[in-house]
Amino acid sequence: MPGGIYECISLISERITANKDLLTELDREIGDSDHGINMARGFQAVMEKLTPEDTDIGATLKKAGMTLLSKVGGASGPLYGTAYMEAGKITAGKTELTPEDMKAVFEAAIAGIQKRGKAVEGEKTMLDAIIPASTAFSRRLYEGADMAGALDAACEAAREGVEYTKTIIATKGRASYLGERSIGHQDPGATSAMITLEAIRDYIKGK
Ligand SMILES: Nc1ncnc2c1ncn2[C@@H]1O[C@H](COP(=O)(O)OP(=O)(O)O)[C@@H](O)[C@H]1O
Ligand SMILES: [Mg+2]
Repeated sequence: MPGGIYECISLISERITANKDLLTELDREIGDSDHGINMARGFQAVMEKLTPEDTDIGATLKKAGMTLLSKVGGASGPLYGTAYMEAGKITAGKTELTPEDMKAVFEAAIAGIQKRGKAVEGEKTMLDAIIPASTAFSRRLYEGADMAGALDAACEAAREGVEYTKTIIATKGRASYLGERSIGHQDPGATSAMITLEAIRDYIKGK
């Protein structure tokens, strides 16, 4: 990735905020109507902490992660917070990321979410967007794509993952209280994960 972690997180924040109502509406159907509010509030707090002088990717991701962890209520704050912090650990001191670094970022973020939330694929969570995205990213890289091409594949897989969440029962988090009634509804966290990945992709392409 070219430099500009501040700009990249700014774009994520912008997109999350623009989709606040959609995320909250999805969470109204199978949760407690706060996912968009949680995420928008979290990113507002993150943007208050960051400045364009934040160029160390690892340090900036850690700062963002700690802020999400402390400022966002609900399940998603600690989960996204851990994802950003774990991604920050493996990018410490870097101001640019190679595609290989990006692959490691995906894997570290997923490991963090799974360590914290104990979910696997197919439980109707953010992982149903992120894990297929990570797999598609790695596969496309292996096939010779560049960062932008591999991110395109990741976003496509994330979108399919979001669609897939409509067909399955939630077995983790608040939506699991609904059991079979959670079928037919799109997972809010998978949706915010897809929005995040699209923002990263668009940031890279815009450079
Ligand atoms: N154990 C888990 N692992 C991964 N993601 C989870 C887990 N539990 C919940 N989620 C994600 O969190 C989202 C809900 O976030 P949010 O509404 O902000 O928190 P809460 O459910 O506490 O109100 C879900 O849509 C799901 O994607
Ligand atoms: Mg909620």
